[in-house]
Amino acid sequence: MENSVTDESQHTHMHHNNISWKKYIDRTSKNKVRPLLVEALQHTQERASALDIGGGALNESKYLLSQGFGSVTAMDADEAAEEKAKEIKEPNFNFVRATYTDFKLEPESYDLINAQYALPFNGPEEFNDLIERLKMSLKSKGIFVGNLFGERDSWNIVGSKKIFHTNESAHEALDGLDIIVFREEEKDEKTALGQPKHWHLFNFIARKR
Ligand SMILES: C[S@@+](CC[C@H](N)C(=O)[O-])C[C@H]1O[C@@H](n2cnc3c(N)ncnc32)[C@H](O)[C@@H]1O
Repeated sequence: MENSVTDESQHTHMHHNNISWKKYIDRTSKNKVRPLLVEALQHTQERASALDIGGGALNESKYLLSQGFGSVTAMDADEAAEEKAKEIKEPNFNFVRATYTDFKLEPESYDLINAQYALPFNGPEEFNDLIERLKMSLKSKGIFVGNLFGERDSWNIVGSKKIFHTNESAHEALDGLDIIVFREEEKDEKTALGQPKHWHLFNFIARKR
């Protein structure tokens, strides 16, 4: 894969909700790699290719590059993420600016898919389609790591454009994969932008058969 920065924003912005992630991306750009991803790497068998969806400040893409993945693809719809991508000079890194809906996924392509605080930013229909396509694009024995928001999350309000899961529906989303880690987490902690928040998360690591 070539080191290209694809600007699909011309048409993808139409579907993307107009929240700018620039502040979030600025404030998280010095963050350490998320421990769940570090844990997931203990379970990889091959490291030919990885995908970082909703990559944001791309800290995790950088980590994946440092951990010997042959190629790392990051995708995100936000302009600030695209700017971060330009700072990564490794030739085996590839950034695609696209929404989840428009991002092309090919079958059996990735040894690892990282989806940290990324999947819930979808309506239910888009979510179901995305999760099926992500599972399809994992190679056999490939690892899927990430998190979903739980129903007691304080962002779960009427009219929210995000998707929230019960323990059962989170398991359903991972249906067909072998679950390695499924860890429910609830805590009160400020967001990256400093807002108080009740977090209800399902953190998972799963493997395709
Ligand atoms: C909470 S941030 C998480 C960023 C990073 N993965 C992390 O763990 O810090 C969510 C990211 O998903 C991207 N995003 C949200 N909705 C999206 C969509 N529908 N399509 C593509 N990217 C989206 C945002 O631009 C943002 O960078």
